[in-house]
Amino acid sequence: MRKPVIAGNWKMYKTIAEAVDFIEKIKPVAAQAGHCEVIVAPPFTALAAAAAAAKGSKVSLAAQNCHWDKEGAHTGDISIGMLRNAGCRHVIVGHSERRHDCGETDEQVNKKVKAALAAGLTPIVCVGETLAERENGETEKVLERQFTGGLAGLTPADFSRIMIAYEPVWAIGTGRTATPEMAAEAHGFLRALARREFGESEADGVRILYGGSVKPDNIGGLMAQEEIDGALVGGASLKVDSFTALLNYPCG
Ligand code: PGA
Repeated sequence: MRKPVIAGNWKMYKTIAEAVDFIEKIKPVAAQAGHCEVIVAPPFTALAAAAAAAKGSKVSLAAQNCHWDKEGAHTGDISIGMLRNAGCRHVIVGHSERRHDCGETDEQVNKKVKAALAAGLTPIVCVGETLAERENGETEKVLERQFTGGLAGLTPADFSRIMIAYEPVWAIGTGRTATPEMAAEAHGFLRALARREFGESEADGVRILYGGSVKPDNIGGLMAQEEIDGALVGGASLKVDSFTALLNYPCG
């Protein structure tokens, strides 16, 4: 059984005080949400305070990015050791906004994934096609390239410690969600790749989250798909009410 994961990606939103306030309010809700794991990804500046607020609760912290080096002359970057030190247990890697805004490549994603694993953090590896790629019938080709490139050189044991997020770029922040069937088809394709590259039990065990305009009113349909093991949520994770509704998504 794959335990569902509901993860909030706060992107470049929330001050330290806002992050702490949110965590305090969500803790009792998360405590009741025995059916899923609860993750939030604040901006770097709020991580340590958010982790202190979340301590001892069911809410765990993710960073939104990392550098692969342990330390060094990388102005503006953050190492995985620093993220651990701030209280993170997960790190989002290869989000499409970083691929598009910052030119992040599959090779860089791969280095980040390996560094995160080596340091004991769970990478949440994002993949997804653009609208043009989908319309050109290239969805599977793109997913395969991002999957094999981003996860190159991992052992099956490494693979069993990651999460994947399928986030079609055209659905992120647009209000245009993939239908549950479309998402499930892509997830099935990714799971088949996992089976081919890493093995049967690894493919059965990996959690594949869907991301892209997940809201309280569409999460139920998405989560009803057997292939969908959770959600990575941007906009709707920013308000306590809507994040609460996401955690309490209708099950079965
Ligand atoms: P969205 O963002 O829920 O606002 O579409 C999802 C994401 O970027 O992870």
